[in-house]
Amino acid sequence: MAPDDFAFLARLVHRRAGIVLTESRYALIERRLAPVMRRFGLKDLTQVMRELRPGQEALAGAVTEAMTVNETSFFRDPELFRRLGKDILPSLLANRANEKRLRVWSAACAAGQEAYSLAMMLNNLGLAAEGWTIDLIASDISAEAVARAERGHYSFFEAQRGLSEGDLAVWFRAEAGGYTVAEHIRRMVAFRRFNLLDSYGWLDDLDLVLCRNVLIYFDSGTKLSVLERIADAMAPGGVLVLGEAETARAHSGLYRELPGNDGLYARLKAPAPRLSAAV
Ligand SMILES: C[S@@+](CC[C@H](N)C(=O)[O-])C[C@H]1O[C@@H](n2cnc3c(N)ncnc32)[C@H](O)[C@@H]1O
Repeated sequence: MAPDDFAFLARLVHRRAGIVLTESRYALIERRLAPVMRRFGLKDLTQVMRELRPGQEALAGAVTEAMTVNETSFFRDPELFRRLGKDILPSLLANRANEKRLRVWSAACAAGQEAYSLAMMLNNLGLAAEGWTIDLIASDISAEAVARAERGHYSFFEAQRGLSEGDLAVWFRAEAGGYTVAEHIRRMVAFRRFNLLDSYGWLDDLDLVLCRNVLIYFDSGTKLSVLERIADAMAPGGVLVLGEAETARAHSGLYRELPGNDGLYARLKAPAPRLSAAV
């Protein structure tokens, strides 16, 4: 790819998804574009660029999606999920004991494994029988990932990553070369396509947000703005979970890091409005 074409592609993907492409991943980028070329009947990268430059929306969307990394697994980072089950969820539920409503968001959910892991944990708590409403929302920029998540069907390999034989027997049914999430678990999660750069107006009062292993692909300005917008959508005292390599330390006015170095942050209550000395 000519340097000029690479620069154009990098700008396009950054503008559309916040993702920073580096030239060191050049070979990977080319490999990822191969299925897009087949789908759009384009014979090489020169043709891709020629079609992209006048702003072909469908192609630009497909190219952007092709640059996302959808790596995930069930109960990814088991220590974190143990902590969620042991301390975090019990304390969030205690905060909401009056309303009996808990709002959880798996942002950048890839093919849904994280959201279904949360659904299994929450289902285990028997909250529905106690009259609780659980809003479990999951989203991703990738239409293909969201469609897969909604189907809830995983290959043997994917299902076995993070799940025991016992989990598979309880929460899944074996079918069509893999496992499908049981219907009552599938129905607990509302999936939708959502770009973290877009408006968060549809999200509010969230008690628990998992935004893991996506900020690492963004530049620092995009990270800061996404973390700010997540904070706006959270309930005071709500908990944000980031990936191991991610941090919200630059936002000490919005989040307090929870002890344990696990990427867990509590949303601070909004500071009291300052009375102007001039009044
Ligand atoms: C590595 S996966 C992380 C999945 C899961 N959160 C986890 O930690 O296992 C990163 C996901 O972020 C999504 N993503 C990338 N840019 C995004 C954006 N601007 N808005 C929403 N999702 C995005 C990708 O499509 C991909 O599914």
